[in-house]
Amino acid sequence: MSTAAQTSGPLGVPRVHLRCTDSTNERARELALRGAPHGTLVTASRQTAGRGRQGRSWVAPAGRALLCSLVLRGAQRLLPLAAGLAVADVGGPEALVKWPNDVLLDGRKVAGILVEGRPQEGWSVLGIGVNVALRAEDFPPELRERATTLGLSPQELEPTLARLLETLQRWITASEAAVLEAFRGRDALLRQPVRWSGGQGRGAGIDGDGRLVVAIDDGTVSLEAGEVHLEAG
Ligand code: BTN
Repeated sequence: MSTAAQTSGPLGVPRVHLRCTDSTNERARELALRGAPHGTLVTASRQTAGRGRQGRSWVAPAGRALLCSLVLRGAQRLLPLAAGLAVADVGGPEALVKWPNDVLLDGRKVAGILVEGRPQEGWSVLGIGVNVALRAEDFPPELRERATTLGLSPQELEPTLARLLETLQRWITASEAAVLEAFRGRDALLRQPVRWSGGQGRGAGIDGDGRLVVAIDDGTVSLEAGEVHLEAG
C-alpha cells in the first residue's frame, strides 16, 4: 500500500465550518500540518484576523463574504494564477484578474486570494475571500472606490461556494498552457500603467512562467509574484 499523500481528488471534503475564527488560512494550515488530505476545506462566517497579501489584513462583515481555505497537496507552479481564474469564472465573463490574482469587476476588487504553505513539502493553503453579499455601506469609505461586491444575497453564499469549488477543480488540474492562455484573456493590467518599488511601465502580458511582463522605456522586465509589490495606478 502506498503511503504517499493523495494529491488529487474532490475539493471541499472533509469540510470544517466555523462560526468565527481568527483566519481560515491559519486553521487550514494547522490541519495540513496534521496530515489533512488534499481538498480539506475550512470556511467561516466571520474572521477576527483575516490575512491578506503582503502582510495586510482582510476584513469582511459576518455572513456576507465567502471566507474559505483549502488544503492542496502536490505542486502546481501556476496555482496563484489558476485560483484567480477560478474566482473570475464565478464573477462572470466581465471579471478580470489583476496579476497575480486580485479579481476585479468594473475595475474594483471583488475577491482576494492568499496562497500560503510549504510547496517544498508538497502542500499549500489556498485562501479565498469573495465579497458575495456585501452592501455599499459594508465597505469603509476609503475602500468604496476600490472594492465591490457580487451583489448577491447571503443565501447565495453556499451556492457560490459550490460553483467556486467546481471552477477551482477545473483550473487547478488544467494544463499550464491553458492557465496562461485563459489568464491572458482576463488580464486587467494589459496596457495599463504599472508601478512597483523598482520602477514603472505598462503591463505587457505574462510570460510562460506566469511572471508579469512590463514594458519600460528601454525594453521589458518580468516581475515575480511575491517579490514585487504593485502600487496603485
Ligand atoms: C488579498 O487580496 O490580500 C488576499 C485576501 C485573502 C483573504 C482570504 S479570506 C479567507 C482566507 N483566510 C484568510 O485569513 N485570508 C484568506
